[in-house]
Amino acid sequence: MTKLWGGRFQQPTDPRMDRFNRSIDFDARLWEVDILGSQAYAHALAQVGVLTEEERDQILHGLEKIAEEWREGRFRLHPEDEDIHTAVERRLTELIGPVAGKLHTGRSRNDQVATDLRLYLCSALQDLELMLSDLQRTVVEVAERHIDLIMPGYTHLQPAQPVRFAHWLMSYFWMLQRDWARLEDMRRRVEVSPLGSGALAGTSLDMDRLALAQRLGFNRITENSMDAVSDRDFVAEFLFWAALLAVHLSRLSEDLIFFSNPSLGFIRLADAYTTGSSLMPQKKNPDAFELARGKAGRLIGHLAGFLTTLKGLPSTYNKDLQEDKEPLFDAIDTLKLALPVLSGAIATLEPQPERMARALDDAMLATDLADWLVAQGVPFRQSHHIVGQVVAEAERRGCPLSHLSLADLQAIYPGFTQDALQVWDFQRSVEQRRAVGGSAKVAVQVQIRRAKAILGVDL
Ligand code: ARG
Repeated sequence: MTKLWGGRFQQPTDPRMDRFNRSIDFDARLWEVDILGSQAYAHALAQVGVLTEEERDQILHGLEKIAEEWREGRFRLHPEDEDIHTAVERRLTELIGPVAGKLHTGRSRNDQVATDLRLYLCSALQDLELMLSDLQRTVVEVAERHIDLIMPGYTHLQPAQPVRFAHWLMSYFWMLQRDWARLEDMRRRVEVSPLGSGALAGTSLDMDRLALAQRLGFNRITENSMDAVSDRDFVAEFLFWAALLAVHLSRLSEDLIFFSNPSLGFIRLADAYTTGSSLMPQKKNPDAFELARGKAGRLIGHLAGFLTTLKGLPSTYNKDLQEDKEPLFDAIDTLKLALPVLSGAIATLEPQPERMARALDDAMLATDLADWLVAQGVPFRQSHHIVGQVVAEAERRGCPLSHLSLADLQAIYPGFTQDALQVWDFQRSVEQRRAVGGSAKVAVQVQIRRAKAILGVDL
């Protein structure tokens, strides 16, 4: 069996070089888009007269058979198949004879692989978009179901102010919404056809590249063949998108791991998304979230690795670019595994209202006491200082802030009145934050309504 490009070679390739060179082990999954690309290209070749209608139909028919073989798991790889493009062409030749050799006229694997990868990513983006929206829907549902629950909100991982559980959860909706918007935006840069760029210099055939692109569902074509064959910005951009989404999922997971820790116990995770310990019978480990957190490292690695591959490449195609596929495919696969698991784990978690309530501490209302003073006309800086003294006094006595009497407060600042004692109420505190984006019930309801409108869920 001779190589596709074997004409000028006198010696066989070292088998170790063959193994090093081949990408078929990971690019076989491009079979479908590779065949779609070739079918569209056959039409374009017929339009410019390189193929007769009969030849075109032979090729289309042969490609259809190959697609069937792949679909039914009957496609047999040949040891000489270097990549998916050569495998399909080799098989086409076996099926329809030498006319198969006309398909590659004016085309190079350089514009072919760039086209394949863009097509593949387009369809992956569709799947990921659905999965991401699904997770967002779950987040909104769970937030809405538990809108009345109040728990500590944290900064520096220290108890800070009371917030609604729903407010906390919805904070992730908005992160995911930015991921969703970035995906939409990125799509416009993926859906561009490089086909008809040849190896680097363009094609000598008088092709209607736009019509060819449109046949593949692209609505734009690349403007410069040298850029087109080596542009992998869309891969890098996707990897960044994936890495940032993974960072969001990782942070969400970290919060949930923290909340599910028995010492807090704010949520209980369903058995379906946890695992046990082989040694300690009591353990229930939040593996779903730990894995989601861990996978972020891998996705960030793909981005860093691939940018490093691109850096310093001379213009047009270089074989280094074959390194685009494994990180891209792995990022897609990883997210496709993680997103539905997170949806399931969040949909089935059970908040524990008493544990949340028990974790609320008067100290989280210190800001409310300062706000009360501000409402009496005390400048915030001064009120902050006064309440600091109140906190110190409670600490000295080893009692909660609310156990200080009015007289105790007045000893620190004479302006305190009976009315000030009303601040020792978590519900009241949360309800004070009614402005858009705040934790009051109405404000969280506004968020949820906006989120549902974005998701197209019935109000
Ligand atoms: N397997 C190659 C890749 O993934 C296809 C393009 C090969 N082009 C070439 N000039 N050798 O990038």
